[in-house]
Parts: sequence; structure tokens; C-alpha cells
Amino acid sequence: MSRDGDIKTFSWHVPETVVTGPGSMKETGGLVQGVMKHPLVVTGPHLFRAGIIAPVLESLEEAGIGYAVFHETESDPSIETVEKIRTMYEKNACDGLIAVGGGSVMDAAKAAAVLIGDGGRLQDYEGAEARKISPLEMTLMAVPATAGTGSEVTPFAVISDDQRQVKMTVSSPFLIPEMVVLDPDLLSGVPAGLAAATGMDALIHALEAYVSRYGSFLSDGFAAQALEKIGHSLVKFVRTGDAEAAQEMLEGSFLAGCAFSLSRLGLVHALSHPLSAHYGISHGTANALLLPAVIRFNQEAAGEKYRQAADLLGVKEQTDLADWIEELNRLLGIEMKWEIREEDLPVLVRDGLMSGNVQANPRLAEEKDAEDIYKTLIPA
Ligand SMILES: [Fe+2]
Repeated sequence: MSRDGDIKTFSWHVPETVVTGPGSMKETGGLVQGVMKHPLVVTGPHLFRAGIIAPVLESLEEAGIGYAVFHETESDPSIETVEKIRTMYEKNACDGLIAVGGGSVMDAAKAAAVLIGDGGRLQDYEGAEARKISPLEMTLMAVPATAGTGSEVTPFAVISDDQRQVKMTVSSPFLIPEMVVLDPDLLSGVPAGLAAATGMDALIHALEAYVSRYGSFLSDGFAAQALEKIGHSLVKFVRTGDAEAAQEMLEGSFLAGCAFSLSRLGLVHALSHPLSAHYGISHGTANALLLPAVIRFNQEAAGEKYRQAADLLGVKEQTDLADWIEELNRLLGIEMKWEIREEDLPVLVRDGLMSGNVQANPRLAEEKDAEDIYKTLIPA
């Protein structure tokens, strides 16, 4: 139901257990006791080799829980990676998934849960003709190692289909992890560039949810608090890695995930996926680069909501929000380093406008509008 209607109906799905605070990853073993006997821990190569996830593994060992580890999840995980996770899970007779990592790790684990439960190919669960996803028989736990995607609380998993050069989204309320651990210690070694890109992603989740046509008092509540927390902590977190700022970013990102699970996103996310698929620009960076032009495009439809959002973010009065975002990108070191080719524009526009997020955007974008927004990324 849009903001224009009188009667609104919400479906409300959230994680059952959230453990938060410094050192909380050491609670993992206790949390899964009696729930999983032999989980598969899904993570990425760096987190594993650098020993960053060691406290999680030690906590499982202390609780007497055997486990297997899949540590090859790449960023923007592919369908092949998801299938490898399924194979490892089945080979080791696992009974639960613990995803310790950024959005890529959590999304890969969530997508693997679909294949483990319902079988088939991941492509079968995408689009209008998608196969139905059944309730999971296993428990899914998410321990985010970046503050950004909100995947620990959303029903979505975004996976790269390298053959078709598209990002596919698999979605079901059953993919919302049952257990979430928010530990700022896991974020202590995140490089500034990654912290900036993922942090901007979280900010944009909150902002797109806040102005969404499908927004409501419920999503606004989550989005408003997320904007406050992220506005307060993002620059400090990126520049210093400060633990309190990391905790605030984790909570802001979680709240932003709650918000957009209810309201969907908008034109920034619609147009950014093709940039990631065609040029390999990271999701958060592509979003951050598109945001100023999308705010300017939406201004006539969502001016008052943007003014409120600016206030929540801590933007000084009289400062234009799109200008402020441009300055924020500069402060965070986010800049356009890719050459967007004019001849690619028709494909980018076509792929971008296929996204369901176009409908949630406060102003409906036509092909020409999308093209104009992409053109802001091409130097004159
Ligand atoms: Fe995002």
C-alpha cells in the first residue's frame, strides 16, 4: 500500500534473537547450543586467514560444537560459490549456517540455504515465475563484519549471475536470519575504503526507505533512527575505526535494513546494480556516486521528507542535501574512477529500470530520466 492509501497492511518479520555489544561474537557457541550440532561457518578468505573470525570458532569449540568452514566467499558472490557452499554443507552433514562476514558472505549463505532446503538452481527462484521458497529447516545466524548491507535483517540475497552479467535477487521472509550478533570488534580491521562504501550503502538504505512510496510510520521509525545514528558516526568510523562509532554504525545499518525490508528501496539501488554488473563498481560506491543526482531528480516529489532526513543526518540548515552528500563522498574518499561509456547507456538504462525498486521511488523515472542520472557520472 502506498503513502496515498488509507488502509495499510504490514508483514512483519524480524530476527528472533539479537546479541549486540563489544565481544558479543564470543557468545556464538552458547547461542547455537541445542540449536545446531554441526554448523557450517561461511566466511571470506581475508576474515579467515587474518584470524578475525577466530573468536567465533573458539566459542563454538568451547561449547563443544564441531563445525566446518567455507572461507572462499568472494565479494559479489557468484552462483558457483553458492553451489559450493551447498555441496560443502551436504558433504559435512551440517545442520545450520553461521555467516560471519559482510553482505557478500551473508547473501551467499542465505542463497545457499534456499538450495539446501528446496534444491534446484538458484535461477529458478528469481523473477515473476520464481519457485516458492519453503520455511528453512535449518537455523541461519548472521554476524556482520561490515556495517552496510543490512543483510543480517533483510529477506534479500543478491547474487552475481556472471553468465548473464546481472545481479539477481532472491527474496523470502524465511531468509531473514533467526539469530544476529552485532559485535564492533569484528569491524576493527575494516579498511577505510570498504568502511566508506558500506557505510554509504547503509545511509542510502535509510534514506531511500524514508522517502519510499511504500513507506509507513513503521519503516519511517526505523529509517529515522538509522539516519541519526549513521549521520552521527559514519565519518568518525571511517576515519578512526573508533569502536563506539562502529557499534553505532552496526546498529544504524541493522535499523536501515529493518526499514527497507518494509518499504523497499528506490532509484539509487535500481540504477546501481547495472553499474556493479557491467563495470565491477562496488555496490556502496556505485550507490554513493548516484545519490546526489537521484536526490535532485526526486526533489519535487519528496522535498519535505529530504528536509527532515537532512535534519536527522545532522546537515546544517540551509545546506542542500545533494551538495552535502557530494561533500561527504569527498570526505570519505569516494570518487568516480571508472569510465562509463556512452554506448553502454541503453543497456544500463534498460537493466536499471527493470528493478522493482523503481516503483518504490517517490518520482517515477522514465528512460530519459535514468539516462540523465547516469550521464552525471560521465565527465563533460
Ligand atoms: Fe544496498
